Amino acid sequence: MSAPWAAISVPLQPEALDDVTMTLHGLVGNAFAVESRPDDDAPWPITARAYVAPGAGQKAARRGVLRALHMLRLAGGGVVGEASETFVGADDYLTSWRAAHAPLRVGRRLVVVPPWLDPPADAAHRIPLVIEAGMAFGTGRHPTTQLALEALETCVARGDRVADVGAGSGILAIAAAKLGAARVTAFEQDPQARPTAEANLRANGAADRVTLVIPSRQRSCQNLRRSWLPTSWPTCTCG
Ligand SMILES: C[S@@+](CC[C@H](N)C(=O)[O-])C[C@H]1O[C@@H](n2cnc3c(N)ncnc32)[C@H](O)[C@@H]1O
Repeated sequence: MSAPWAAISVPLQPEALDDVTMTLHGLVGNAFAVESRPDDDAPWPITARAYVAPGAGQKAARRGVLRALHMLRLAGGGVVGEASETFVGADDYLTSWRAAHAPLRVGRRLVVVPPWLDPPADAAHRIPLVIEAGMAFGTGRHPTTQLALEALETCVARGDRVADVGAGSGILAIAAAKLGAARVTAFEQDPQARPTAEANLRANGAADRVTLVIPSRQRSCQNLRRSWLPTSWPTCTCG
């Protein structure tokens, strides 16, 4: 059997979801899953589970995740529970991670689908966004992504020009293009996001309408804006 992955689980209340997911994303990229149990009376309605790959850095990375979750627990005033750790084989990791990335209906017209699945038959009337987030932020599971997708549904008109500042996986840029935008410019400061965003553009047939602006090394949003956006565009907001 291959070396095991560490699976670090933490129970939490909905108020803590944002802090916990942003923290885990910073530490393990998208190698985490969130399970909700909204319908039962469990004291902790959500469990977040971070996975740490086997290898030389596993011990330090596990410690980093456990320490960060402990700090969130201390600061959280009862909305973050105690983390626990188990080890799972690579197949279990992949199976449980993929199970947590099932197709997701967003708003009235969109469905986010991972590349290894077909859109569900009962979502055939929806526009599929084929998204593999890799190490970039933007699986579609985060509430802020979903709110932005719902806003795009209502405000993008055919032929629009759209700027996506802080594109991550490219999910919002792709949604804008598929909702009818003629040109989308997607800015992202993290060079690691490029292969993921490029693959997602290809998977959605959107590469001809979306221009990625991702530096080869980290630069600030204002620098990206200065070099690419017309001065008439509104001040950028990252998110
Ligand atoms: C919360 S994620 C949003 C990703 C995606 N748009 C979504 O809605 O799921 C924010 C993204 O903005 C990027 N970002 C943060 N500051 C930035 C800046 N100054 N310039 C460009 N991108 C930035 C981050 O690297 C990250 O990928």
